[in-house]
Amino acid sequence: MDKLNLATIFSGIGAIEQALIKKKIPYNIIFASDNGERDLICSLDELKIKFEDSKKKSISEFVKNQYDSLSKPNYVKQSYFANYSIREDQWYEDVRFIDGTKYEGKVDMLVGGSPCQSFSIIGKRAGLDDARGTLFYDFARLVKETKPKVFIFENVPGMLTHDKGKTWKQIKEIFESLDYKFKYTVLNSKDFGIPQNRKRLFVVGWKDKNKEFYFPRGKELTTTMFDYLEKNVAARHFLGKKGFEFVTNEKYKNRARVNQEIIQTQKANQQFNWNGDFVFVPYEDIKNNKEILERAYIGIFKGERGAIRQLTYRESIRLMGFPDDFKIVVPNVPAYRQIGNSIVVTVLEAIVEEIYNCEIL
Ligand SMILES: C[S@@+](CC[C@H](N)C(=O)[O-])C[C@H]1O[C@@H](n2cnc3c(N)ncnc32)[C@H](O)[C@@H]1O
Repeated sequence: MDKLNLATIFSGIGAIEQALIKKKIPYNIIFASDNGERDLICSLDELKIKFEDSKKKSISEFVKNQYDSLSKPNYVKQSYFANYSIREDQWYEDVRFIDGTKYEGKVDMLVGGSPCQSFSIIGKRAGLDDARGTLFYDFARLVKETKPKVFIFENVPGMLTHDKGKTWKQIKEIFESLDYKFKYTVLNSKDFGIPQNRKRLFVVGWKDKNKEFYFPRGKELTTTMFDYLEKNVAARHFLGKKGFEFVTNEKYKNRARVNQEIIQTQKANQQFNWNGDFVFVPYEDIKNNKEILERAYIGIFKGERGAIRQLTYRESIRLMGFPDDFKIVVPNVPAYRQIGNSIVVTVLEAIVEEIYNCEIL
């Protein structure tokens, strides 16, 4: 095979792209799609009526127009275009309007992790057609339409247990209806070299029924959060008194924790309202930094005097397995959100390696 033809939906900041780069697997992007967490307010049916009323020739042009009229820019698109080689016509704002039949046979690997809030209604529906309107449906639909050799679907493990397992039963039936062999498992990034306790469900599907795929085994973790920290951190990352007291309060330890060797799952809202992991900095290390001293509250943590700070974007993205040459081009709120929404690159690297070892591609 020459270059791998890759299509992604819910593309985010491109974790699979990074995994392929790391594994030195050359690839072409066939298409990518992300609406940048900007939902069009009306339903699919209302949109279709609006489209018929509009003078637009194609639905894709109409949908692009709808998104362009929103006041919030697509920050995910900005991040994606800054880091990967992709043309405007290969980008789709909204996965629901991608006509996959156009790409039939042109995609080797389709990858996506639908937003988790979308699966809550699937369990109540019967089959693929009945799951229409959920974003999971669009993943399955695009497998059916593009017919990739391999697909990788990622989601929160809660998908397996939601609604007493009814949701997963439905999703499994939908995967079974796609004419693919598939396997699924939950993998934790701390077993794949990244000190983050992030469990995610992975489903790998492949077309060649004579082949078998095996998920990668984890390995012992050899790093801690401290190996991913930057040396000079700007004053704006330091917490004031309220923040210091919040993150060191045992009562909130499920939301905020300080100086953990293995960080908790990074989320879209991490680092805001004191959610996520934080770093204690001894007073000695900042005593000559006027800017930090003006902003930071100096308190006592585990008997030591010092300040507490957030993880920087660079540290957060390192803790998702991204390299330092990844360009962060968006403001801080979307930057942290995009990082927390992503997939840990090293887990995908291990999956990709097994996909090649098992020759299912
Ligand atoms: C859980 S995140 C997945 C991020 C991605 N896996 C990564 O590696 O960065 C879900 C993504 O789906 C996007 N999304 C939500 N609704 C969408 C839609 N209708 N069409 C396209 N993307 C959508 C969100 O903007 C978000 O980036």
